[in-house]
Amino acid sequence: MRIAHISDIHADTSTAFQKRFRDLLQSIRTHRADHLVITGDLTDKALPDEYDTVIRILKEFDYSSGENLTVIPGNHDLYPAVYQSFTFRLSTLREEFREDPVRITKELYRVLRAYRKFTPQTYRDALRTFVAHFKWSFDDAMSFGTEKTGGFPYVKHLNDDFAIVCIESNYVSPHIKNFLPYALVKYAITKDMFSVTDSPICSNGWIDTGLFEQALSHPAVKNKQLIVLLHHYLYPEEHGLRYMSKDFERTMSLVNKDEFLRVVRESNTAMLLHGHWHITEAYSICNGTFTALNGAGAIREDNGKWNILDLSANKVNIDEVHMS
Ligand SMILES: [Fe+2]
Ligand SMILES: [Fe+2]
Repeated sequence: MRIAHISDIHADTSTAFQKRFRDLLQSIRTHRADHLVITGDLTDKALPDEYDTVIRILKEFDYSSGENLTVIPGNHDLYPAVYQSFTFRLSTLREEFREDPVRITKELYRVLRAYRKFTPQTYRDALRTFVAHFKWSFDDAMSFGTEKTGGFPYVKHLNDDFAIVCIESNYVSPHIKNFLPYALVKYAITKDMFSVTDSPICSNGWIDTGLFEQALSHPAVKNKQLIVLLHHYLYPEEHGLRYMSKDFERTMSLVNKDEFLRVVRESNTAMLLHGHWHITEAYSICNGTFTALNGAGAIREDNGKWNILDLSANKVNIDEVHMS
């Protein structure tokens, strides 16, 4: 069985995006993958038109059931109120501020108001919207979650040997990890100590490891080798610092990564697939015990690299494919 893995499509309605996405799916078709996995950020701002665009193109390529498609959400799918309020690029914020401080100050104020409107319920509504759009891809999955978690985690059986575990990793951390002045500023903005501002650009992640453990202990899952899907990366600290500064890294990472990996170590995990940082690469974690695959360069990088996994005889072989 061959699995194609991509991530972070960030769909918009432009013809440039649609062409690029069709070219990517054509590349996957050419390599005869049996199943496509997309690990989050399917949309850029969770707009209805973005959902429609990505689903229409997936269906053009016959991805219209859970038999050949598995998706999980990313932060861009679940914080529409915040991402829809961004009209500037965070990476160039400093330069843009120097050029036009009045405009950027006004826009930052708008973003803060969007943060203020955030409640855990808005997150749950966005999660429910995501699952409703892709309901057909979860039809054959077992749910180990609750209504509050949109049914996540889900488990799908691929064949006698392998199952896919779908994890929702985008919930804001319920733990205060910040020093007091920052927590007080946060409280002044949101009147909520456990809020989205624990995750300044809504990019931090947190996983409910209790639900993950429940899924792993189910008799139908126990004896399978697992392909685990999450949106957030699992880079060891020094690996992450190759790409971003320590401060930026603190806004992008999985807050309870160590706790999550402790559960992974005791499971039958064969491989972990994710996105979030926009490159495609394979790397090892837990001192070489596991391989993790990032597939987020497929649309966002010039060479359009995506991952192909060959599951055979209880073994997973991986390869990178260049789209162009
Ligand atoms: Fe992304
Ligand atoms: Fe992301």
